[in-house]
Parts: sequence; C-alpha cells; structure tokens
Amino acid sequence: MTFLEHSSPACTRLGILLSGRGSNFLAIAESIRAGRLPSAEIAVVISNVADAAGLARAREMGLHTKVLVSRGRKREEHDADVIACLRANGVDLVCLAGYMRLLSPQFVAAFPHRILNIHPSLLPAFPGLDAQEQAFNYGVKVTGCTVHFVDEELDHGAIIVQRAVAVLETDDEHSLAERILKEEHLAYTEAIARVVSGEYELRGRKYVKTHA
Ligand code: GRF
Repeated sequence: MTFLEHSSPACTRLGILLSGRGSNFLAIAESIRAGRLPSAEIAVVISNVADAAGLARAREMGLHTKVLVSRGRKREEHDADVIACLRANGVDLVCLAGYMRLLSPQFVAAFPHRILNIHPSLLPAFPGLDAQEQAFNYGVKVTGCTVHFVDEELDHGAIIVQRAVAVLETDDEHSLAERILKEEHLAYTEAIARVVSGEYELRGRKYVKTHA
C-alpha cells in the first residue's frame, strides 16, 4: 500500500516541514504505514533546504514534496509561501520535524494550535540550539524530549508529550543525543495521536484529556 492510498476524508492531513535528515518525519511516516496513526495522512513534505536528506526520502516514498528555499528571503515573505502551500494541500496539522526556522507571528496565527514541534530536551529546560549538549554540559541526570504546540516564543508553547531519558555515567553528548532521538520518534507519534484523537483540550497551558 502506498501512502497516497490512505487518503480519506476523515483523515487529518499533515504538513511536514523539515530542513535536514528527517528521522522524525520518517518515524511519523512509518507510524502511518504501520497503522499506528490510522486517522492521519501526509499531505505534503516541505523543505526550506533543497538538498535536505529527509526531502529525498520523502520523494522516494512517493509523497508530495515542495522546496521553498528560505535563504536570502524575508521571513514574512517566505512564510507566506509556506502557508499558501500548506493551504493548497489542505493541511490541517503542521508538524515541524527538524525545521531550522523560527516561524513568523503570521504563520503561527494562520494555524492556531495546529502547529507541533519536537525539541530534544525536557522543556522549559534547555530551549534553543544543541539542547542535548546543553543538558549534558549542565550535568543533569535526566533529560529527554518534548512535543509542544508552537506559539510565538521559541520552544515555548503548551506541552503535548514528554519522554524522559536518563543520563548515564558512560554518556557523551553524542550517545545521549542518540538515545533521546529514539524517544523523539515515539513521542512525535504519541503527540499526533493525541491531537488527532480530538480527546484532548487546552486548559491554559495544560493539554488534558477531556471527560465527555
Ligand atoms: C531533532 O533532534 C529534533 O528534536 C530537533 O531537530 C532534530 C531533527 O532531527 N528539533 P531529524 O531531522 O528529525 O532527524
């Protein structure tokens, strides 16, 4: 079965944004293929980097892909093109998967509480770049990963899922990052499942199961 054959009106259409190797994207795609996200499908994979490895994998899988190069462009102009592409592809839920761009307020407003990001630390600890190395150098004993809604502040929106990873005596920042990445791949699927289930709602910053 191809990815396109999953298409059905009941499906949440995901728009994946990536800039690099795309292992989180691949984990999401594999979860859909394996039936772990039965009501989600990938509508489009967009990259701001033309030679991103994740984009090449998306093409090999027969997914719809689009390159929208960001270098040298004003953020608002580039974001307007990305928003237009997401809309043209009927995207309901945007998944940032190693997308190395800050989103403009206009982008965040275009998909209110419909943009997810994954970050390799237990937020609010260690936001920003090289979070695994930040955590390792700080000497924490436990770190992990966070999937959260994107708001206008960096690595700040309401938390959907977190998974913890113990820091071992034998770790360096690379071995730690590898173990965190494995948890990221589980966390992203879990977070998408929660959002598409319609069984959770935001109460302030808290994303909680509704008791209908
Ligand atoms: C991941 O560590 C993710 O948490 C961070 O960027 C990295 C992307 O990795 N936002 P990949 O491209 O998904 O393999």
